[in-house]
Amino acid sequence: MRKFLCFFTVVLIIIFLTFVILSAAENDKINYVGTNTCRLCHEPQTQSLIRSLHWKKGIKNSPLSDKGCETCHGPGATHVRAGGGAKKDLVTFTRSERPEDKSRVCLNCHENSPSISSWDASLHKKNDVSCEDCHTIHTNSRLNLKNTQPAMCTSCHKEVRSQLARQSHHPVAEGKVKCTDCHTTHGGFGKHMLNADSIPDLCYTCHAEKKGPYAFEHPPVAENCGTCHQVHGSNHGNLLDSKVPQLCESCHNIGAGHTSRAYTQQHGFSGLATANKNKFFARGCLNCHGNIHGSNRDPSFLR
Ligand code: HEC
Ligand code: HEC
Ligand code: HEC
Ligand code: HEC
Ligand code: HEC
Ligand code: HEC
Ligand code: HEC
Ligand code: HEC
Ligand code: HEC
Ligand code: HEC
Repeated sequence: MRKFLCFFTVVLIIIFLTFVILSAAENDKINYVGTNTCRLCHEPQTQSLIRSLHWKKGIKNSPLSDKGCETCHGPGATHVRAGGGAKKDLVTFTRSERPEDKSRVCLNCHENSPSISSWDASLHKKNDVSCEDCHTIHTNSRLNLKNTQPAMCTSCHKEVRSQLARQSHHPVAEGKVKCTDCHTTHGGFGKHMLNADSIPDLCYTCHAEKKGPYAFEHPPVAENCGTCHQVHGSNHGNLLDSKVPQLCESCHNIGAGHTSRAYTQQHGFSGLATANKNKFFARGCLNCHGNIHGSNRDPSFLR
């Protein structure tokens, strides 16, 4: 009797599972209508895909070789039955949907690409930016970008746009340097999503001559170029944070009378100072300390 009951239960379970599997498959058939149906009403969106990598025949794992339009937009049956309109089940990539849900669609295929594997640590992700804020799918633009750099980036980062417009600036608007030469937009672990482990390492990739080793180093240089330079742009020459000598005097309290100080102790601003006592001229300290990033000849970085 016991054996029989056991057998009976197993049979019941098998029947139940078969039913579940079959009805799931059936549901799939009902919920997914196929690209040809979408195309009936969305010919322009279909055309704009055809020349892109996502729609190329022979590319493994592309949406074309998966569920077509519905790979990204989800099952469309409800939408189609209603004769169009944004309906439940459909991912429309509009503002009303949660950023992580939209990015999930893309990550299903892209999360293992090397440049995207640290997306979870990205400040963009953490601040609700999603893939389609920068990428568009219905186009054959290079890398599916919505716009070219720097315009795309500065449409959100307006403060960087104004920094780059200052008198001294990295030639980003001129097209000689890109935002992504210095930043990883998909995220990295460092602060500011830099393309290198530290600020000096980043700068050395293009300004290799500033990397010693020097016999006589100026300690702030190897530590952080950003102590003296405003990387995007500055109103002082050479991207400097402030003018020389103020820049130097923010760290060095040089003795009275050391040439190039604004005034000597005897000749203060309100006292005897006159034009020829004021030594605040030309390149100030740099007239003599010309190798400010380090020197192999002179401990005081003299020329
Ligand atoms: C019977 C015609 C019809 C078919 C078939 C159809 N759609 Fe639509 N679809 C529409 C109409 C009409 C709209 C515009 C409705 C609106 O803006 O509210 C629309 C809008 C959309 C939108 C944008 C929604 C939004 O809120 O911006 C997406 C995405 C979409 N359709 C995807 C699909 C997909 C994927 C398929 C195939 C599974 C499909 N459609 C099949 C008629 C159709
Ligand atoms: C079904 C899998 C799949 C999905 C979903 C998918 N992609 Fe792709 N994508 C691919 C394949 C395959 C390629 C081409 C080969 C490659 O780069 O690995 C590609 C290429 C790309 C490229 C490079 C294009 C170029 O010109 O080099 C970008 C950018 C991209 N996808 C972004 C996205 C975004 C954004 C989404 C979400 C809206 C998305 N993908 C969804 C499979 C997918
Ligand atoms: C802040 C803007 C931004 C966001 C958000 C963004 N991307 Fe990108 N993506 C870019 C830029 C810019 C490039 C081109 C990089 C270059 O030119 O070096 C790129 C390149 C790519 C490429 C092709 C090259 C490669 O590195 O493999 C893929 C694939 C891609 N992105 C997928 C995604 C996916 C998936 C998401 C969402 C998880 C996403 N992107 C989010 C800006 C962005
Ligand atoms: C790789 C993912 C992906 C595939 C495949 C895809 N779409 Fe889209 N679709 C998007 C994204 C992301 C948007 C948001 C706007 C954009 O990025 O261009 C969008 C927007 C839309 C829109 C509304 C915006 C507009 O352009 O009016 C429609 C309609 C649409 N897709 C239809 C389709 C149809 C039809 C297909 C199949 C032929 C398809 N999509 C295949 C990702 C995809
Ligand atoms: C030459 C390299 C370089 C280029 C090119 C560059 N950046 Fe930066 N960016 C940096 C560095 C280094 C920092 C960190 C600054 C610091 O710590 O003083 C930074 C900081 C930032 C920050 C955060 C701090 C702030 O100033 O708001 C944003 C946002 C930013 N960059 C966006 C951009 C965008 C957008 C572009 C292109 C239009 C761009 N960057 C081009 C190197 C660069
Ligand atoms: C849709 C808007 C949007 C676009 C487009 C965009 N970003 Fe951002 N970005 C943000 C937001 C929001 C943050 C997080 C808040 C902040 O620091 O401004 C951020 C943060 C950053 C940071 C880190 C800032 C920090 O404080 O450390 C960098 C670097 C950056 N973005 C670079 C880029 C680059 C490069 C591009 C173009 C490839 C780009 N962004 C495109 C919205 C955007
Ligand atoms: C992707 C390459 C690249 C990287 C990385 C880079 N730079 Fe530059 N930098 C340039 C180019 C190009 C110029 C313009 C040179 C010219 O016009 O001759 C420049 C110019 C400068 C100037 C002179 C500006 C002026 O007004 O003449 C300074 C200072 C500078 N960079 C500092 C830095 C610092 C600090 C870093 C690191 C945070 C850095 N750069 C990272 C490419 C780069
Ligand atoms: C102690 C302040 C200070 C630090 C730190 C510093 N710089 Fe400079 N940098 C200067 C000054 C001052 C000038 C102007 C030099 C001149 O006019 O002779 C300059 C000029 C430059 C220039 C343009 C002129 C030239 O000599 O090529 C570049 C490029 C540069 N610095 C890169 C860097 C890099 C890269 C770092 C970090 C590794 C760095 N700087 C760190 C003060 C500094
Ligand atoms: C962020 C702080 C900082 C700034 C800004 C700075 N320095 Fe220095 N500087 C130092 C430190 C720290 C040392 C090492 C001091 C020591 O060894 O006693 C040093 C060393 C020196 C030395 C060699 C001192 C010696 O004992 O021979 C000279 C010369 C010098 N700096 C000149 C300048 C000039 C000129 C400027 C402006 C262009 C400047 N520094 C900007 C921090 C700074
Ligand atoms: C006319 C040339 C000249 C000018 C301009 C000049 N220095 Fe000097 N500085 C020297 C010489 C030469 C030495 C080396 C003195 C020695 O070895 O005893 C020196 C030494 C130094 C030292 C290391 C010794 C000490 O006194 O602490 C520092 C720091 C320094 N200068 C900073 C500055 C700063 C900051 C400025 C700009 C405000 C400046 N110097 C302008 C010629 C100059």
